[in-house]
Amino acid sequence: MSLRRLSRLQSRLLAFVLVNALLVIAYWLFTPTNFADAAELHSSPGDSLVGLEFLRRGEEEGGEGNADEDGGYVGDFKYFDRSLTGRAVEGVEGLEDGKVREVETLAGRVTHFVLERGTTAKRRRNLGVEEERRGVNGSEGEEVDEEEEDEEEEGLERRQNRNQVFVSVSSCRQPDATTRLRFEDPPQLSLYVSASDRNQQPGPGNEEGLVGGKAIPLVGGYANLSISTTNNVYIGVSAPNLTEGWQGGWQFEVAASTKGFYHSYNQNETFLFLIDTDSDSALFVSKNLTSNNDSATIDAWRDLTDSPFTMFAFNDTEWGARGLERSVCGLKSVFNTSNNYTVDNRITTKFGGGSPKALFHVQNLTADTSYRGYLVVDTDMTTSNLDFSATAPLGAGGRVWQQFIFTTKKDDSCQVIFDLPFCTNTAYAVPSSRKFKSDDAALISIYDAKAAAYYTNFTKSLSQIACETTGSAQYSLARNCTDCASDYKDWLCTALIPRCEDWSAKGDALQMRNVNSPFLDGSPPPSDFVSSTFALNRSSPDFNATIGERAAFAKSRHAFIDEEIQPGPHKEILPCEDLCFALVRSCPAQLQFACPIEPARSLAYGRRQDNTDTEIVCNFPGAIRSLNLRRSAAVGRVRGGWWMVGVVVGVGVWLGL
Ligand SMILES: *[C@@H]1O[C@H](CO)[C@@H](O)[C@H](O)[C@H]1NC(C)=O
Ligand SMILES: *[C@@H]1O[C@H](CO)[C@@H](O)[C@H](O)[C@H]1NC(C)=O
Ligand SMILES: *[C@@H]1O[C@H](CO)[C@@H](O)[C@H](O)[C@H]1NC(C)=O
Ligand SMILES: *[C@@H]1O[C@H](CO)[C@@H](O)[C@H](O)[C@H]1NC(C)=O
Ligand SMILES: *[C@@H]1O[C@H](CO)[C@@H](O)[C@H](O)[C@H]1NC(C)=O
Ligand SMILES: *[C@@H]1O[C@H](CO)[C@@H](O)[C@H](O)[C@H]1NC(C)=O
Ligand SMILES: *[C@@H]1O[C@H](CO)[C@@H](O)[C@H](O)[C@H]1NC(C)=O
Ligand SMILES: *[C@@H]1O[C@H](CO)[C@@H](O)[C@H](O)[C@H]1NC(C)=O
Ligand SMILES: *[C@@H]1O[C@H](CO)[C@@H](O)[C@H](O)[C@H]1NC(C)=O
Ligand SMILES: *[C@@H]1O[C@H](CO)[C@@H](O)[C@H](O)[C@H]1NC(C)=O
Ligand SMILES: *[C@@H]1O[C@H](CO)[C@@H](O)[C@H](O)[C@H]1NC(C)=O
Ligand SMILES: *[C@@H]1O[C@H](CO)[C@@H](O)[C@H](O)[C@H]1NC(C)=O
Repeated sequence: MSLRRLSRLQSRLLAFVLVNALLVIAYWLFTPTNFADAAELHSSPGDSLVGLEFLRRGEEEGGEGNADEDGGYVGDFKYFDRSLTGRAVEGVEGLEDGKVREVETLAGRVTHFVLERGTTAKRRRNLGVEEERRGVNGSEGEEVDEEEEDEEEEGLERRQNRNQVFVSVSSCRQPDATTRLRFEDPPQLSLYVSASDRNQQPGPGNEEGLVGGKAIPLVGGYANLSISTTNNVYIGVSAPNLTEGWQGGWQFEVAASTKGFYHSYNQNETFLFLIDTDSDSALFVSKNLTSNNDSATIDAWRDLTDSPFTMFAFNDTEWGARGLERSVCGLKSVFNTSNNYTVDNRITTKFGGGSPKALFHVQNLTADTSYRGYLVVDTDMTTSNLDFSATAPLGAGGRVWQQFIFTTKKDDSCQVIFDLPFCTNTAYAVPSSRKFKSDDAALISIYDAKAAAYYTNFTKSLSQIACETTGSAQYSLARNCTDCASDYKDWLCTALIPRCEDWSAKGDALQMRNVNSPFLDGSPPPSDFVSSTFALNRSSPDFNATIGERAAFAKSRHAFIDEEIQPGPHKEILPCEDLCFALVRSCPAQLQFACPIEPARSLAYGRRQDNTDTEIVCNFPGAIRSLNLRRSAAVGRVRGGWWMVGVVVGVGVWLGL
């Protein structure tokens, strides 16, 4: 064994001596300048076996779209090569990093683009041979460029990010259907991406080394792809051949960026809640626009004159945005040409915590109709300003969120109001009639002035109670007059301003109101009292017969509504009983507040339930509905501890019934 090892060593030594001898001869044959050139060109194809091998590896890795550091390093060698041999293939349009290109195309065509990675290559070109050798070792990180020394220290993650290329395509226009009966979805473009110089025009039939292995069809007019490579990125956008029934071409936007997706689509959430609808409008509010709660950020949002958000709505039975649902420019182009809806939109700090939110009021809708809605943000905002917390940073091409469906109400007896001067958190449909249909201000003033007047009288009463005292003189250790006033206001605005639903709405929590009035369209009062359940003795034989005579059903919640507003028959989502309990608990006993007891309580108040996101079973300030989602944080504030006052009994509060 030791003999064999010795002989192996000997043969290695021999080989070493021979190679060295050859090198010495070579040294004498080549001039020093030639030698330097050879070193610089060492990776040209065919120049040396080592160079060729690295080239192949780089292409494989680029093709798989998961180039590691080795691949990235090799990619530079390739770029280096290409820069010596010539420019990109003709018919390939150059893309600028982070800039969009808008292009038109026709059926059967493929349009080619390239993002050249010149800056990285230039940086690397200055490196000496020594650093390159170390790179060959598989440790790209050891390369050090003077300008970027600091950056290098920030670790692997950062280096990988720098190599990431984000490609996105959005259709802005698509072929039209030639027949009115359209059963098929519109034909979609496909995205082909290659990071290999061998395939500079990826497309159908030219699929060698495609990132991801295959073409990516656009869905809803949108596709994206991200790859890690330092090589050039070649993009092909292919338009399919049209089948019968379709004509025309496409217009699309394409962008490649090293910073993040230029266009984006979020299919996880709607980002929007429905506050309420009436027969011709709908009111929506977004989630918090920022998680930052410092006042400078909040003021910056509130003072924004132009909201960067847009909401689009389409008649659900129409063609609408089909085929372009995920594309900002597509939605814009379809919306402008197809309907009369108007969308008022602005930033508000109402509806929870004073954090900025986008508010949308969609008007000119048709009664009893379902609509498909889309939320879009389409302004080039800095991401520091527009902080969507967990979601990806926003590119200049904007973002579309998951679509949602909403339905307008049937009758004009309910009307959405918001922006009340006193009841600032009130925003929902209230009992109304046709004379207020195009006069929100008059309706708001009736309800809000009443609430403000009651509150004024309440504060007078409260001021006669020893509120300012501290310690043992205070009426409660846990609650003081500030709490009392705030709970009174919450309760007053909710109990005085009823939340209205269509007469035809179904739901256990709905209370029939004003059942003896004719409908606003002149049709006679309802005779069927089918869909409501409540806590009275419903099995009593004369129950149905007497509904029309019971005050709880025969009239609206308050007399002033019947006198001044005169709505038709409608249903009411009752205020949550915990608002009443909180009031009784927070306020001094001298004020003599008390909540009604059963069975009367069930005619005046509803009870909160868990796990009801899409249905509001009782009303409270800031109650909103989730769109589409099963589970979410839709139901706002929860008050704790009210059951402690469950023993309090007494006469109905003056507004209770
Ligand atoms: C090169 O690889 C060898 C052995 O794998 C290792 O010891 C050395 O540290 C590497 N050099 C660099 C610069 O990473
Ligand atoms: C479109 O049709 C032409 C001619 O039939 C065919 O060569 C081409 O491959 C087709 N393109 C696609 C994308 O199917
Ligand atoms: C990329 O596209 C997919 C599918 O459409 C989508 O779910 C994802 O959110 C997109 N990514 C971005 C950043 O838009
Ligand atoms: C959507 O949800 C998936 C899975 O929960 C997550 O991986 C993805 O990042 C989310 N996309 C966006 C745009 O938030
Ligand atoms: C802002 O948020 C921080 C942490 O989330 C919290 O500590 C702070 O109290 C908040 N400030 C205000 C004014 O709400
Ligand atoms: C919605 O579209 C359908 C079909 O085009 C039409 O019958 C209906 O009148 C439309 N509704 C509205 C409100 O425009
Ligand atoms: C838009 O308004 C015009 C004029 O009032 C009307 O003729 C047309 O049908 C409306 N379009 C839709 C989609 O409702
Ligand atoms: C929105 O912001 C407010 C105030 O900062 C906070 O109380 C509330 O929990 C936030 N809502 C969500 C859903 O994060
Ligand atoms: C509703 O549409 C009609 C035309 O159909 C228009 O005259 C009216 O101004 C619109 N109303 C609103 C509130 O946008
Ligand atoms: C407020 O108090 C005054 C004086 O007691 C009374 O005339 C008025 O009706 C009260 N207003 C309300 C809304 O109760
Ligand atoms: C009432 O109590 C809250 C804390 O519970 C306190 O912030 C507030 O200043 C108190 N108001 C008065 C008038 O004492
Ligand atoms: C009241 O009317 C409903 C529907 O009309 C009916 O189902 C129910 O049995 C009636 N109740 C009584 C006690 O007759």
